[in-house]
Amino acid sequence: MNATILPEKENHYPVLLNEIISIITPQYGGTFIDCTFGQGGYSKKLLEYPKTKVIALDRDPESLNLSLKLEKKFVKRFFFKNLKFSNLDKLELRNENIKSVIFDLGYSYSQIKDIKKGLSFNAHGDLNMKMGLNNFSAKDVIHKLDKRDLEKIFKFFGEEKDYKKIASKIVKSRETKKIDTQDLVKIIKTSKIKRNYKIHVATKIFQSLRIFVNKEISELIFGLINATKILKPGGIIVVVTFHSLEDKIVKFFFKNLSQKKSISRYMPTTEERDNLFKLVNKKPIVPSHEELKKNPPSRSAKLRFAIKENEILGFENEILEKFNYLLEIESLSKKL
Ligand SMILES: C[S@@+](CC[C@H](N)C(=O)[O-])C[C@H]1O[C@@H](n2cnc3c(N)ncnc32)[C@H](O)[C@@H]1O
Repeated sequence: MNATILPEKENHYPVLLNEIISIITPQYGGTFIDCTFGQGGYSKKLLEYPKTKVIALDRDPESLNLSLKLEKKFVKRFFFKNLKFSNLDKLELRNENIKSVIFDLGYSYSQIKDIKKGLSFNAHGDLNMKMGLNNFSAKDVIHKLDKRDLEKIFKFFGEEKDYKKIASKIVKSRETKKIDTQDLVKIIKTSKIKRNYKIHVATKIFQSLRIFVNKEISELIFGLINATKILKPGGIIVVVTFHSLEDKIVKFFFKNLSQKKSISRYMPTTEERDNLFKLVNKKPIVPSHEELKKNPPSRSAKLRFAIKENEILGFENEILEKFNYLLEIESLSKKL
């Protein structure tokens, strides 16, 4: 998983911003929800258009400093909440007509470089990986879950081929000492049978732990469901993803709900349900050559968007069923 923002010059670079602006057209005004405020790249751009209002969320309390400055500068036009986007439905929106809900998944540059968060395999010290508003850390996962559970996390959230060997070494090693970030990197290095030299040896295991610790699967699924619920027809959901698991979920959600289908899959009927979404692009939008030159880590970014067309009850059942196997792995955290 790559962070949106790890640019050459180490300053903030909001990914696919121009493309997003051309989809959500803030020049005509409206209320926008920026679900992943981060370093405020998207929110600040939206506020440059005088007729806009922005409601921003971020689970990381460290976003509060910058958000307070924006709230002072843009009174009645900018509002921030330290909230996870799976709880979008808890926002008091009264009768607000939301034009677009935007998600820029992954981590901000400041989070990746924050040693305390320990998100990167370059970090030293305790395993952590908490983005904010978490109940447990990577240290708890590595030391408290049993071998089988670790295997599932590494296999399904990291697509790591050597998941069995790595889990087994972790369980053995933790009998005698606490495992910190660099110990884990060493365990992975010595367990790998075949190396893929294109990525760091620990990339996949670290990705799987970040997804598990931050419950990124249920965050995304319930984020999409609740964004759909708060939008009125005509509203747009925009999502930028950074790894294949995220993209798979977003692609399924948009494609599946933009196709005409029989109302019941158990009883063949000629009656079709309405489309929930209109899909303009079937393929994802990716960064231009120019953007890739300025910000190489944006290469794994994929943008998908969908326009809500109709109100449909029970639309969430199919995505919950389809990805239940991932939600079940996430719920192993109940043991912690
Ligand atoms: C890639 S950064 C966003 C960068 C932002 N677009 C910008 O231009 O500054 C992702 C941000 O989303 C936040 N985030 C990730 N998952 C979240 C969730 N489930 N709920 C709320 N915020 C989340 C992270 O804390 C991080 O600050």
